[in-house]
Amino acid sequence: MYNLALDCTEIGDKLMSNAIPKILVTRKMPDVVNKKLMANFTVSLNKSDKLFTEVELQRALKEADGILCSVTERFTKKILNITDRKTKIIASFGVGVDHIDLKFAKSKSIVVTNTPGVLTDATADLAIYLILAATRKAYLSEKKLRDGEWTGFSAVEDLGVSLKGKTLGIIGMGRIGKATARRANMALGMKVVYFNRSYIGSIDFPARPAQSIGHVMRESDIVSIHLPGDKGNHGLINEEQISLMKDNSFFINTSRGEVVDQKALIEALRTRKIAGGGLDVFENEPNIPQSLIDLDNVTLLPHIGSATKEVRDEMGLLAVENLISYFGEKDCPSRVV
Ligand code: DGY
Repeated sequence: MYNLALDCTEIGDKLMSNAIPKILVTRKMPDVVNKKLMANFTVSLNKSDKLFTEVELQRALKEADGILCSVTERFTKKILNITDRKTKIIASFGVGVDHIDLKFAKSKSIVVTNTPGVLTDATADLAIYLILAATRKAYLSEKKLRDGEWTGFSAVEDLGVSLKGKTLGIIGMGRIGKATARRANMALGMKVVYFNRSYIGSIDFPARPAQSIGHVMRESDIVSIHLPGDKGNHGLINEEQISLMKDNSFFINTSRGEVVDQKALIEALRTRKIAGGGLDVFENEPNIPQSLIDLDNVTLLPHIGSATKEVRDEMGLLAVENLISYFGEKDCPSRVV
Protein backbone atom coordinates (compact mmCIF):
# COMPACT_ATOMS: atom_id res chain seq x y z
CA MET A 1 0.00 0.00 0.00
CA TYR A 2 1.41 3.40 -0.79
CA ASN A 3 1.10 6.14 1.76
CA LEU A 4 0.62 9.34 -0.10
CA ALA A 5 1.50 11.57 2.83
CA LEU A 6 4.50 9.78 4.25
CA ASP A 7 6.16 7.44 1.78
CA CYS A 8 6.39 9.05 -1.55
CA THR A 9 5.23 12.63 -1.71
CA GLU A 10 7.90 14.85 -3.23
CA ILE A 11 7.46 18.51 -2.67
CA GLY A 12 7.74 20.57 -5.82
CA ASP A 13 8.92 24.16 -5.90
CA LYS A 14 5.38 25.39 -5.67
CA LEU A 15 3.95 23.04 -3.06
CA MET A 16 2.43 25.43 -0.63
CA SER A 17 -0.10 26.76 -3.06
CA ASN A 18 -3.41 24.94 -3.32
CA ALA A 19 -3.62 25.95 -6.95
CA ILE A 20 -0.78 23.63 -7.91
CA PRO A 21 -2.24 20.43 -9.35
CA LYS A 22 -1.31 17.21 -7.64
CA ILE A 23 0.14 14.51 -9.90
CA LEU A 24 0.48 10.93 -8.81
CA VAL A 25 3.07 8.83 -10.63
CA THR A 26 2.36 5.11 -10.52
CA ARG A 27 5.85 3.80 -11.46
CA LYS A 28 9.44 4.82 -10.89
CA MET A 29 10.42 7.33 -13.60
CA PRO A 30 13.76 8.63 -14.94
CA ASP A 31 15.30 11.46 -12.84
CA VAL A 32 14.86 14.05 -15.56
CA VAL A 33 11.14 13.28 -15.62
CA ASN A 34 10.79 13.56 -11.84
CA LYS A 35 12.61 16.90 -11.92
CA LYS A 36 10.32 18.32 -14.56
CA LEU A 37 7.27 17.06 -12.69
CA MET A 38 8.45 18.60 -9.43
CA ALA A 39 9.17 21.93 -11.07
CA ASN A 40 5.57 22.15 -12.19
CA PHE A 41 3.36 20.19 -9.84
CA THR A 42 2.89 18.79 -6.38
CA VAL A 43 4.06 15.26 -7.01
CA SER A 44 3.58 11.88 -5.43
CA LEU A 45 6.22 9.44 -6.65
CA ASN A 46 6.33 5.69 -6.32
CA LYS A 47 9.89 5.26 -5.10
CA SER A 48 9.58 1.53 -4.42
CA ASP A 49 8.17 0.92 -7.93
CA LYS A 50 5.77 -1.58 -6.40
CA LEU A 51 2.69 -2.15 -8.55
CA PHE A 52 -0.50 -0.48 -7.37
CA THR A 53 -3.43 -2.65 -6.36
CA GLU A 54 -6.92 -1.87 -7.67
CA VAL A 55 -7.76 -0.24 -4.34
CA GLU A 56 -4.65 1.93 -4.49
CA LEU A 57 -5.45 2.97 -8.04
CA GLN A 58 -8.93 4.01 -6.98
CA ARG A 59 -7.49 5.94 -4.05
CA ALA A 60 -5.12 7.66 -6.45
CA LEU A 61 -8.08 8.66 -8.64
CA LYS A 62 -9.70 10.25 -5.58
CA GLU A 63 -6.59 12.12 -4.41
CA ALA A 64 -4.71 13.29 -7.50
CA ASP A 65 -5.69 15.84 -10.17
CA GLY A 66 -3.64 13.93 -12.71
CA ILE A 67 -2.04 10.50 -12.92
CA LEU A 68 1.10 9.58 -14.83
CA CYS A 69 0.85 5.82 -15.36
CA SER A 70 2.32 3.11 -17.54
CA VAL A 71 1.07 0.00 -19.33
CA THR A 72 1.14 -1.90 -16.01
CA GLU A 73 -1.86 -0.01 -14.57
CA ARG A 74 -5.19 -1.21 -15.87
CA PHE A 75 -7.78 1.57 -15.73
CA THR A 76 -10.85 -0.53 -16.36
CA LYS A 77 -14.40 0.77 -16.19
CA LYS A 78 -14.68 -0.78 -12.73
CA ILE A 79 -11.68 1.18 -11.48
CA LEU A 80 -12.56 4.46 -13.17
CA ASN A 81 -16.21 4.35 -12.14
CA ILE A 82 -16.02 6.00 -8.74
CA THR A 83 -18.23 8.85 -7.61
CA ASP A 84 -15.66 11.01 -5.84
CA ARG A 85 -13.00 10.93 -8.53
CA LYS A 86 -10.67 13.94 -8.59
CA THR A 87 -8.43 12.90 -11.50
CA LYS A 88 -9.14 14.73 -14.73
CA ILE A 89 -6.24 13.48 -16.83
CA ILE A 90 -4.37 10.19 -17.18
CA ALA A 91 -1.04 10.70 -18.94
CA SER A 92 0.19 7.31 -20.02
CA PHE A 93 3.90 6.59 -20.46
CA GLY A 94 3.80 4.63 -23.73
CA VAL A 95 2.08 4.70 -27.08
CA GLY A 96 -0.37 1.82 -26.48
CA VAL A 97 -3.41 2.77 -24.41
CA ASP A 98 -5.22 -0.56 -24.39
CA HIS A 99 -4.78 -0.69 -20.58
CA ILE A 100 -7.25 2.19 -20.23
CA ASP A 101 -10.97 1.92 -21.00
CA LEU A 102 -10.95 4.85 -23.40
CA LYS A 103 -14.68 4.76 -24.12
CA PHE A 104 -15.52 4.97 -20.46
CA ALA A 105 -12.83 7.60 -19.79
CA LYS A 106 -14.30 9.72 -22.58
CA SER A 107 -17.83 9.32 -21.23
CA LYS A 108 -16.57 10.68 -17.90
CA SER A 109 -14.56 13.47 -19.58
CA ILE A 110 -11.27 12.05 -18.37
CA VAL A 111 -8.52 13.13 -20.76
CA VAL A 112 -6.08 10.38 -21.78
CA THR A 113 -2.73 11.12 -23.41
CA ASN A 114 0.07 8.87 -24.68
CA THR A 115 3.66 9.20 -25.96
CA PRO A 116 3.75 8.37 -29.69
CA GLY A 117 6.65 9.09 -32.02
CA VAL A 118 9.49 9.20 -29.51
CA LEU A 119 9.67 5.41 -29.24
CA THR A 120 9.17 4.52 -32.91
CA ASP A 121 12.83 3.99 -33.83
CA ALA A 122 13.73 2.07 -30.67
CA THR A 123 10.80 -0.31 -31.14
CA ALA A 124 11.56 -0.81 -34.83
CA ASP A 125 15.20 -1.49 -33.92
CA LEU A 126 14.02 -4.19 -31.54
CA ALA A 127 11.76 -5.74 -34.17
CA ILE A 128 14.78 -5.99 -36.47
CA TYR A 129 16.81 -7.46 -33.61
CA LEU A 130 14.13 -10.14 -33.16
CA ILE A 131 14.02 -10.84 -36.90
CA LEU A 132 17.79 -11.39 -36.87
CA ALA A 133 17.72 -13.39 -33.64
CA ALA A 134 14.96 -15.68 -34.93
CA THR A 135 16.40 -16.26 -38.38
CA ARG A 136 19.97 -16.81 -37.11
CA LYS A 137 18.89 -19.16 -34.28
CA ALA A 138 20.50 -16.80 -31.77
CA TYR A 139 18.93 -18.27 -28.64
CA LEU A 140 19.67 -21.89 -29.56
CA SER A 141 23.29 -21.11 -30.48
CA GLU A 142 24.01 -18.96 -27.42
CA LYS A 143 22.45 -21.55 -25.14
CA LYS A 144 24.63 -24.24 -26.65
CA LEU A 145 27.72 -22.14 -26.03
CA ARG A 146 26.80 -21.19 -22.46
CA ASP A 147 25.88 -24.80 -21.65
CA GLY A 148 29.38 -25.87 -22.73
CA GLU A 149 28.00 -27.85 -25.66
CA TRP A 150 29.82 -25.97 -28.43
CA THR A 151 32.48 -28.18 -29.93
CA GLY A 152 33.86 -25.62 -32.38
CA PHE A 153 33.15 -24.14 -35.79
CA SER A 154 30.90 -26.15 -38.06
CA ALA A 155 30.14 -25.62 -41.74
CA VAL A 156 26.79 -27.31 -41.55
CA GLU A 157 25.26 -27.14 -38.08
CA ASP A 158 22.67 -24.67 -36.77
CA LEU A 159 22.42 -22.72 -39.98
CA GLY A 160 20.04 -19.81 -40.15
CA VAL A 161 18.47 -18.20 -43.20
CA SER A 162 19.62 -15.12 -45.13
CA LEU A 163 17.29 -12.15 -45.20
CA LYS A 164 18.28 -10.55 -48.51
CA GLY A 165 15.50 -11.03 -51.04
CA LYS A 166 13.14 -12.59 -48.47
CA THR A 167 9.68 -11.12 -47.85
CA LEU A 168 8.82 -9.34 -44.64
CA GLY A 169 5.08 -9.14 -43.99
CA ILE A 170 4.00 -6.23 -41.83
CA ILE A 171 0.59 -6.34 -40.20
CA GLY A 172 -0.24 -2.81 -39.06
CA MET A 173 1.64 -0.24 -41.12
CA GLY A 174 1.58 2.58 -38.57
CA ARG A 175 4.67 4.48 -37.44
CA ILE A 176 6.46 1.46 -35.97
CA GLY A 177 5.38 -0.92 -38.76
CA LYS A 178 6.71 1.50 -41.35
CA ALA A 179 9.97 2.11 -39.49
CA THR A 180 10.54 -1.66 -39.22
CA ALA A 181 9.73 -2.19 -42.89
CA ARG A 182 12.02 0.68 -43.94
CA ARG A 183 14.94 -0.83 -42.01
CA ALA A 184 14.24 -4.31 -43.41
CA ASN A 185 14.11 -3.02 -46.97
CA MET A 186 16.90 -0.47 -46.91
CA ALA A 187 19.36 -2.10 -44.53
CA LEU A 188 18.64 -5.81 -45.03
CA GLY A 189 17.50 -5.91 -48.66
CA MET A 190 14.13 -7.49 -47.86
CA LYS A 191 10.94 -7.16 -49.89
CA VAL A 192 7.98 -5.78 -47.98
CA VAL A 193 4.33 -6.71 -48.15
CA TYR A 194 1.89 -5.19 -45.69
CA PHE A 195 -1.70 -5.02 -44.54
CA ASN A 196 -3.18 -1.95 -42.96
CA ARG A 197 -6.87 -1.41 -42.30
CA SER A 198 -6.83 2.08 -43.72
CA TYR A 199 -5.16 3.24 -46.93
CA ILE A 200 -1.52 4.24 -46.54
CA GLY A 201 -0.63 7.04 -48.91
CA SER A 202 3.05 7.84 -48.86
CA ILE A 203 5.70 5.21 -48.32
CA ASP A 204 9.24 6.25 -49.27
CA PHE A 205 10.55 2.72 -49.97
CA PRO A 206 9.24 -0.23 -52.00
CA ALA A 207 6.34 -1.90 -50.18
CA ARG A 208 3.35 -3.72 -51.59
CA PRO A 209 -0.09 -3.54 -49.97
CA ALA A 210 -1.95 -6.86 -49.54
CA GLN A 211 -5.71 -7.35 -49.61
CA SER A 212 -5.97 -8.99 -46.21
CA ILE A 213 -4.04 -10.25 -43.20
CA GLY A 214 -4.35 -13.75 -44.69
CA HIS A 215 -2.52 -12.66 -47.83
CA VAL A 216 0.37 -11.32 -45.73
CA MET A 217 0.50 -14.50 -43.65
CA ARG A 218 0.60 -16.63 -46.81
CA GLU A 219 3.19 -14.64 -48.73
CA SER A 220 5.75 -13.76 -46.07
CA ASP A 221 8.95 -15.43 -44.96
CA ILE A 222 8.76 -13.37 -41.80
CA VAL A 223 5.59 -11.88 -40.35
CA SER A 224 5.93 -8.92 -37.98
CA ILE A 225 2.96 -7.68 -35.98
CA HIS A 226 2.49 -3.96 -35.28
CA LEU A 227 -1.13 -3.71 -34.21
CA PRO A 228 -2.59 -1.71 -31.34
CA GLY A 229 -3.92 -3.82 -28.50
CA ASP A 230 -7.51 -2.50 -28.65
CA LYS A 231 -10.16 -5.05 -27.67
CA GLY A 232 -11.27 -5.30 -31.33
CA ASN A 233 -7.83 -6.67 -32.22
CA HIS A 234 -7.71 -9.32 -29.48
CA GLY A 235 -7.01 -12.75 -30.98
CA LEU A 236 -7.01 -11.26 -34.50
CA ILE A 237 -3.98 -13.36 -35.42
CA ASN A 238 -5.72 -16.64 -34.68
CA GLU A 239 -5.06 -20.31 -35.35
CA GLU A 240 -6.47 -20.07 -38.86
CA GLN A 241 -4.27 -17.10 -39.75
CA ILE A 242 -1.19 -18.78 -38.29
CA SER A 243 -1.96 -21.96 -40.27
CA LEU A 244 -1.65 -19.92 -43.46
CA MET A 245 2.00 -19.11 -42.74
CA LYS A 246 4.62 -20.64 -45.01
CA ASP A 247 6.47 -23.67 -43.67
CA ASN A 248 9.83 -22.51 -42.33
CA SER A 249 8.64 -18.94 -41.85
CA PHE A 250 9.12 -16.78 -38.73
CA PHE A 251 6.77 -14.83 -36.47
CA ILE A 252 7.72 -11.59 -34.71
CA ASN A 253 5.62 -9.53 -32.28
CA THR A 254 6.63 -6.25 -30.66
CA SER A 255 3.13 -4.78 -30.29
CA ARG A 256 0.76 -6.47 -27.84
CA GLY A 257 0.51 -10.14 -26.89
CA GLU A 258 -3.29 -10.03 -26.82
CA VAL A 259 -3.60 -9.56 -30.58
CA VAL A 260 -2.27 -13.10 -31.11
CA ASP A 261 -3.79 -16.43 -30.10
CA GLN A 262 -0.76 -17.32 -27.99
CA LYS A 263 -1.72 -21.00 -27.62
CA ALA A 264 -1.96 -21.42 -31.38
CA LEU A 265 1.38 -19.65 -31.86
CA ILE A 266 3.10 -21.89 -29.29
CA GLU A 267 1.68 -24.94 -31.05
CA ALA A 268 2.94 -23.74 -34.44
CA LEU A 269 6.40 -23.16 -32.95
CA ARG A 270 6.41 -26.45 -31.01
CA THR A 271 5.43 -28.57 -34.00
CA ARG A 272 7.87 -26.62 -36.22
CA LYS A 273 4.99 -25.67 -38.50
CA ILE A 274 6.86 -22.37 -38.47
CA ALA A 275 10.63 -22.28 -38.04
CA GLY A 276 10.86 -19.80 -35.21
CA GLY A 277 9.93 -16.50 -33.69
CA GLY A 278 10.82 -13.46 -31.68
CA LEU A 279 8.46 -12.06 -29.06
CA ASP A 280 8.74 -8.95 -26.91
CA VAL A 281 5.10 -9.00 -25.78
CA PHE A 282 2.79 -11.64 -24.32
CA GLU A 283 -0.77 -12.33 -23.36
CA ASN A 284 -1.25 -11.62 -19.65
CA GLU A 285 2.22 -10.17 -18.93
CA PRO A 286 4.38 -10.87 -17.00
CA ASN A 287 3.15 -14.47 -16.93
CA ILE A 288 4.79 -16.56 -19.62
CA PRO A 289 3.59 -20.13 -20.15
CA GLN A 290 6.21 -22.80 -19.48
CA SER A 291 5.35 -24.31 -22.87
CA LEU A 292 6.75 -21.14 -24.46
CA ILE A 293 9.78 -20.89 -22.18
CA ASP A 294 10.68 -24.49 -23.10
CA LEU A 295 10.97 -23.77 -26.83
CA ASP A 296 14.45 -23.19 -28.23
CA ASN A 297 13.31 -21.77 -31.57
CA VAL A 298 12.00 -18.49 -30.19
CA THR A 299 13.73 -15.47 -28.66
CA LEU A 300 11.75 -14.06 -25.74
CA LEU A 301 12.25 -10.54 -24.40
CA PRO A 302 10.49 -8.86 -21.45
CA HIS A 303 8.60 -6.00 -23.20
CA ILE A 304 11.68 -3.82 -23.85
CA GLY A 305 10.73 -2.32 -27.24
CA SER A 306 11.18 1.26 -26.03
CA ALA A 307 13.72 0.49 -23.32
CA THR A 308 16.65 2.78 -24.08
CA LYS A 309 17.78 5.50 -21.68
CA GLU A 310 17.21 8.22 -24.27
CA VAL A 311 13.76 7.05 -25.26
CA ARG A 312 12.52 6.46 -21.72
CA ASP A 313 13.56 10.04 -20.86
CA GLU A 314 11.72 11.34 -23.92
CA MET A 315 8.61 9.31 -23.17
CA GLY A 316 8.46 10.64 -19.62
CA LEU A 317 9.10 14.21 -20.69
CA LEU A 318 6.32 13.99 -23.28
CA ALA A 319 3.94 12.61 -20.65
CA VAL A 320 4.83 15.58 -18.43
CA GLU A 321 4.35 17.99 -21.37
CA ASN A 322 0.85 16.59 -21.76
CA LEU A 323 0.13 17.28 -18.09
CA ILE A 324 1.61 20.80 -18.24
CA SER A 325 -0.46 21.62 -21.33
CA TYR A 326 -3.63 20.22 -19.83
CA PHE A 327 -3.33 22.14 -16.57
CA GLY A 328 -2.16 25.22 -18.49
CA GLU A 329 -5.37 24.96 -20.52
CA LYS A 330 -3.51 24.37 -23.76
CA ASP A 331 -3.89 21.56 -26.31
CA CYS A 332 -2.04 18.44 -25.17
CA PRO A 333 0.71 17.42 -27.63
CA SER A 334 -0.61 13.85 -27.78
CA ARG A 335 -4.17 13.53 -26.55
CA VAL A 336 -5.99 10.27 -27.26
CA VAL A 337 -9.43 11.13 -25.81
C1 DGY B 1 4.12 1.22 -25.52
O1 DGY B 1 4.63 2.33 -25.70
O2 DGY B 1 2.95 0.96 -25.81
C2 DGY B 1 4.99 0.18 -24.90
O3 DGY B 1 4.52 -1.08 -25.16
C3 DGY B 1 5.10 0.42 -23.41
O4 DGY B 1 3.85 0.62 -22.90
